Amino acid sequence: MLKARDTVRTLKEYHPPLGNREGLRLDFNENTAGCSPRVLEGLRKLTGDDLARYPVRQPSEQIVAAALGVSPEELLLTNGTDEAIHLICETYLEPDDEALIVVPTFAMYEIYAAATGARVISIPAENDFEFPTEKVLAAISPQTRFIAVANPNNPTGAFVPISHLAKIAKGAPSAALLVDEAYFEFCGETIARQWRELPNLLVSRTFSKAYGMAGLRIGVLIGNTNQMQVVRRASSPYNLNSVALACLPDALDDHKYINEYVNQAIDGRRQLERELEAWGIRFWPSRANFVLMYLGENCKPFIRKMRERGILVRDRSSDYGCQECARITVGIREHNHKLLASLRQVFAELGLNEKVAR
Ligand SMILES: Cc1ncc(COP(=O)(O)O)c(C=O)c1O
Repeated sequence: MLKARDTVRTLKEYHPPLGNREGLRLDFNENTAGCSPRVLEGLRKLTGDDLARYPVRQPSEQIVAAALGVSPEELLLTNGTDEAIHLICETYLEPDDEALIVVPTFAMYEIYAAATGARVISIPAENDFEFPTEKVLAAISPQTRFIAVANPNNPTGAFVPISHLAKIAKGAPSAALLVDEAYFEFCGETIARQWRELPNLLVSRTFSKAYGMAGLRIGVLIGNTNQMQVVRRASSPYNLNSVALACLPDALDDHKYINEYVNQAIDGRRQLERELEAWGIRFWPSRANFVLMYLGENCKPFIRKMRERGILVRDRSSDYGCQECARITVGIREHNHKLLASLRQVFAELGLNEKVAR
């Protein structure tokens, strides 16, 4: 009988709730305004011949490398960040190696690491989801070959000081340290400038969030030339399709579009945080385009009532330490406005009292 490898058969299943997402989608940290109109214009110009050819990744890699100020050899375009995580696990982890992951965090680190047969060591975040730098340093062993940190983190929005990450990279020279900067645009701080001094550091970025292109699946992995050479071997030469590659130059060029979206999302985040403060709701200050809040027994009714008003927000109760917590994405002005109006109504319906004058 055909039997899958034990490590795959016993993997946790990850089923993001993608069904029935009609309405204002504040549940997946997507750009709810969509991508730059210039990307759509470029798409309309594609021909049958463009699609008939195998995709050629290198010219787009040169454009992205120039935009990021690195050489093309220090970079690999990936099929979203998900593929970057997968490639790193395939490149560095042997069965029985150790992978260190601080929880709660993005689910795919654990899944791809465990699929290799490596042992995943989960380290709980401190109170208030602060990153447990000392605990991570103490957990590093000769078997540690992969450490993944989302910075800012999802679902908490917490940020790890760059100096702490550099300390971890230096403390684990035999481990690939992935710093996943999926939400970089909303926080503006990056460890990327240090990848030349930290040869085991790999930094990932994505076009799925600020750029509004989650459906196209485009990510970027940046690292030391020698490391990127081996990671590239593990990837398919056709990992990005030609449609995604064709959209990249326009997406990168339209700075105005991204800057306006990011500014509105940051304003929306501040407004949402102020609103939660006014209602006396516990939340965790965020550096990303979402806010995590504790709603206790009101969590499920809140999510249901928001959905009834056409607004989708995400229940994060199954994440470590996030029981009865909801995560809400912010975005363009109009959507933030709609969110706040509905949120006020729902809080009032749930019998919460505004505690502070706004
Ligand atoms: C921290 C983090 N990394 C990566 C991703 C996924 O990125 P991509 O769409 O590029 O695979 C997400 C999506 O939610 C995320 O929160």
